[in-house]
Amino acid sequence: MSSKVLRKQNDGKRILIVGSGGREHALAWKIAQSPLCEQLYVAPGNAGTDKWNVPIKTDDIQGLIQFAKSNSIDLTVVGPEEPLSLGIVDSFLAEGLKIFGPSKEAAELESSKAFAKSIMDEAGVPTAEYRTFTSKQKAEDYLGKVGAPIVIKADGLAAGKGVIVATLFEEALDGIDRIMGGEFGEAGSQVVVEEYLEGQEVSLLCFCDGTSALPMVAVQDHKRALNGDLGLNTGGMGTYGPPSFWTKELEEEVLRTLALPTLHVMRERGNPFVGVLFLGLMITTQGPKLLEYNVRFGDPETQVVMSQLKSDLVPILEACAEGRLQEMKVEWFDGTAVCVVMAAPGYPGNYQKGIPINLPQETEEDQMIFHAGTILNGDIVESSGGRVLGVTVRGDSLVSAREEAYRLVKKIDFPMAHYRTDIGLKGLNN
Ligand code: AMP
Ligand code: GLY
Repeated sequence: MSSKVLRKQNDGKRILIVGSGGREHALAWKIAQSPLCEQLYVAPGNAGTDKWNVPIKTDDIQGLIQFAKSNSIDLTVVGPEEPLSLGIVDSFLAEGLKIFGPSKEAAELESSKAFAKSIMDEAGVPTAEYRTFTSKQKAEDYLGKVGAPIVIKADGLAAGKGVIVATLFEEALDGIDRIMGGEFGEAGSQVVVEEYLEGQEVSLLCFCDGTSALPMVAVQDHKRALNGDLGLNTGGMGTYGPPSFWTKELEEEVLRTLALPTLHVMRERGNPFVGVLFLGLMITTQGPKLLEYNVRFGDPETQVVMSQLKSDLVPILEACAEGRLQEMKVEWFDGTAVCVVMAAPGYPGNYQKGIPINLPQETEEDQMIFHAGTILNGDIVESSGGRVLGVTVRGDSLVSAREEAYRLVKKIDFPMAHYRTDIGLKGLNN
């Protein structure tokens, strides 16, 4: 007998989110508010998504397919890059299951920097000059010619840690040595040596249906571990958006010169891009240039973006998966949102787990404490990862959103938590 959930006609949607970070909590929080959503699941989720969690790992694609089939899931939304680069979308589609995200081949825009650069070339997308090398000697010879400042990148996925922005020649040499010397495993078998770009860095996430792109609120991330953009690179210590320099004209220029030419080339190649195309931009004196593509919602960009999305997310995701994004009108709240990441002591190096956390019982309507690396131990929330919470506040202005976000941070009892105290400050100084 089939274990399928019995469905009535006109039932609401049954939605599965894949992932366990702050991004997935933010997506779950938003989707749960949709009148179209009848039942939500998060696999495997965290303590913040506990009431929706199912214990299936994000790389267990067969397990996720079985779950989607036996629970009559109408739409699956994929958070992290790993299952995308493993081909979760192709596997779901082959089973006739609707899913929001790019195919394995389209996901190479993120999983291979060399592939991303070749698409940028073909699409005529403005980006940094670069060369790729499989030979360490040739990479060093080239470096000898171009000198520093320069950027050295591992080709494959390296959890945001495979990029060395070298101000000094010796740092660049050392970077090539580390990447090609095995520190990043297979991801370091090819190295990208790239021109150093100067300007304001900004993330623009776009909903895509293969043909059209619908931009979300632009966000500035804070990637370094310490105040003043010092310390090691992390997955992101906080975000705010939109920045004051972000204008409608700039958004249109980015769509015209970066997003749409990319979608065009991917479609021509037979790999139309469906999902979130995340453009990592540098706004230089010569205009916007692309640093990198990601093929998914950003973390912690999504926390800020979801808190500012006024429209229902579910119809947008469905329109992307069904190739009819052009029909959609999307509304955003005015004002600014800020997300302050609270991390475990030691992050992004070795960090402690199992720290008990006490959260305030109530927060205001425009305030969300999104969980990332948390688990429930009985009734107690404990830290289980590097980035633990994303304290997110929407306000009329950047000043008030920042103030409220840090006020809320202070109400959280998370011993030894590490967080930056300058999230959004660059927006006030711009
Ligand atoms: P990525 O993993 O490619 O996003 O790189 C991590 C960070 O390194 C970026 O967010 C930038 O801050 C910096 N970065 C990457 N490429 C460049 C570049 N060509 N010029 C200057 N900074 C860069
Ligand atoms: N915050 C950067 C990322 O999601 O890759």
